Amino acid sequence: EKGGFRSFMDKEIDEQPQAVADTLLGRTDAAGALVLDELRIDEEALKRVSKIVLVACGTASYAGMVAKYAIEHWTRIPCEVELAHEFRYRDPVVDDRTLVVSISQSGETMDTLMAVKHARELGAMTIAICNTHGSTIPRESDAVLYTHAGPEIAVASTKAFLAQITAVYVLGLYLAQLRGGTYADEAQAVMKELHEVPAKIRTVLDAMGRVREIARFMADSPAVLFLGRHVGYPVAMEGALKLKELAYIHAEGFAAGELKHGPIALVEPGQPVFVVVPSPSTEHGLHGKVVSNIQEIRARGARTLVIAEEGDESVVPFADEIISVPTVPTLLAPLLTVVPLQVFACELASAKGLDVDQPRNLAKSVTVE
Ligand code: BG6
Repeated sequence: EKGGFRSFMDKEIDEQPQAVADTLLGRTDAAGALVLDELRIDEEALKRVSKIVLVACGTASYAGMVAKYAIEHWTRIPCEVELAHEFRYRDPVVDDRTLVVSISQSGETMDTLMAVKHARELGAMTIAICNTHGSTIPRESDAVLYTHAGPEIAVASTKAFLAQITAVYVLGLYLAQLRGGTYADEAQAVMKELHEVPAKIRTVLDAMGRVREIARFMADSPAVLFLGRHVGYPVAMEGALKLKELAYIHAEGFAAGELKHGPIALVEPGQPVFVVVPSPSTEHGLHGKVVSNIQEIRARGARTLVIAEEGDESVVPFADEIISVPTVPTLLAPLLTVVPLQVFACELASAKGLDVDQPRNLAKSVTVE
């Protein structure tokens, strides 16, 4: 049932274009407007939402972090993201105008379930983003928006992550559409761009030969660092998590802007650092700032592995390796830039002879707190 792939993880990484396409399917009408009747939730109550809190664990929490950038930009509704277990056991400010969005592949993660129950007790509206029909978290929520990634067998999440970003984006764009006017116009424009993403993910997957080679060369690395900024920051965190989970290598993801506030002390000659570079078209000159970061770490001897938009020549002088991804609007870039990092972790772990589907000490869903 691995369909010719060496592991479920390899298969699931390859299924990502479909996971995104299926999660978009049926959620727009012929005119391109978002239709989410499946939510069966009071639209007026949704329009009154004054704050959104995203709760999740592990990889799903990084989908939430990505979503914060996008949803605030599209809706101007303040948006927080918090690890479910941290949210539950402090005293969060939540009321009946708060929308709590949980994200969980399994729908059974106890930490996330407890956060959802807590939010409901406090009067919040709760929507579950979930991949598993009939699971507990959707049942305990006011509404559910399913990801359509199909069953995910490998313990560490890959295709569910892309489907989660897609679904939470659909939800954010729906909220933007409810606001009307230019918000609605932008929502429809983004949906069009989203529909082009699956083919671009395939382009990335088709060009992974060099990434696999690099991964095999790096099987003995003691530590790998990951830098990203804006939506590239959660991508860096996810790249590090995948490497820890699959290859048992010490890995850390940092916000590139933090580099000079601490992490740069870790850089010594030969230290591999992945850098997720924003598109040159990203606002506020973020691209140039990240290119400067690459220059800074390279000057200290880092081995720079740079993920950049195709045609971005500015990284060439400072990159030991360039991994190109197709052009997409900045907020959609995580759906492409995370893919080489998944492939890297999977390939490296396989080169070490590890079982990428069942890493040591981990369980697919953790049903205890
Ligand atoms: C962890 C899994 O236990 O739970 C991760 O190893 C996953 O892969 C996390 O991201 C959250 O799981 P779920 O099912 O709530 O998305």
